[in-house]
Amino acid sequence: MEILNRPRRLRKNETIRSLIRETKLSIEDFIYPIFVQEGTGIKEEIPSMEGIYRYSVDKVLKEIEEVESLGIKAILLFGIPENKDEFGTEGYTEDGIIQRAVREIKKVFPQMYVITDVCMCEYTSHGHCGILLENGYVDNDKTLEYLGKIALSHARAGADMVAPSDMMDGRIEYIRNCLDENGFETIPIMAYSAKYASSFYGPFRDAADSSPAFGDRKSYQMDPANTDEAIREIELDIMEGADIIMVKPALSYLDIIRRSKDNFNMPLAAYNVSGEYSMLKLAVKEGLLDETAILESLLSIKRAGADIIISYFAKDVAKMLK
Ligand code: PBG
Ligand code: ZN
Repeated sequence: MEILNRPRRLRKNETIRSLIRETKLSIEDFIYPIFVQEGTGIKEEIPSMEGIYRYSVDKVLKEIEEVESLGIKAILLFGIPENKDEFGTEGYTEDGIIQRAVREIKKVFPQMYVITDVCMCEYTSHGHCGILLENGYVDNDKTLEYLGKIALSHARAGADMVAPSDMMDGRIEYIRNCLDENGFETIPIMAYSAKYASSFYGPFRDAADSSPAFGDRKSYQMDPANTDEAIREIELDIMEGADIIMVKPALSYLDIIRRSKDNFNMPLAAYNVSGEYSMLKLAVKEGLLDETAILESLLSIKRAGADIIISYFAKDVAKMLK
């Protein structure tokens, strides 16, 4: 038998396999999203997200202690306010839920890298990501003023980085200017650059109580059918001053992740969103899939080109990689 090339030679045992392994997951690649809400003594599981909870500020500290001990170095905070109104006021007040959470967390865990989601949908009574015109359309330029206030209030509370997820035009430049004019020129912006109008955000909207009261987000989030448009969106964000670009969701958009990595020499994040988490978590819980399917799917995100993975699986990953 004369077979010259035998790829199996390099698959003989784990030692040689790991020597030639091209992509490796490390806990340092991950950002862990956390939901904080008003009140005290609250740790409430999100029904559609097994193992993910909403915490009051006092309880979130205990959670972060565990997160830190697992080797996770960065978190992404989402807030659920007490009261919602048309203008999302609690999103930018000094004693808002996120502002208080950031101050408390940074006081107790100064090494934890705290990133905040900058958007309005958790804070508006109508659940849209901005200020509405009378006809229900989101007013882009008016919304920018609010996003600037939100980002600035997060920076003042001590956030290490802000992450705008609203998809308004011109927001990165607007937020960058607000931060710079107030002495926060060293706070980076992670831009949700190519964010699609996706059904995979369903469980998140339960968690954050942020479903739009009417209509959908298609007039600001991207059409899942488009690729070139993602490149244009990312280009704009880079020109406007984004430090990190993001593709979201991840698993149904691996082609977008790869194309973004090939097109731009920029740190690239991918958001492994709530629906992607819940699907797999449920399948593993029901015994339909082995839990290594989790690592395999996260590996595909990294292999596609993501430098950073935002994932509700971060704690599971930390435990599995140990
Ligand atoms: C807020 C926001 C959303 C997510 C992150 N920031 C929801 C949305 O746009 O409806 C989704 C995260 C997830 O599904 O895990 N704009
Ligand atoms: Zn939003």
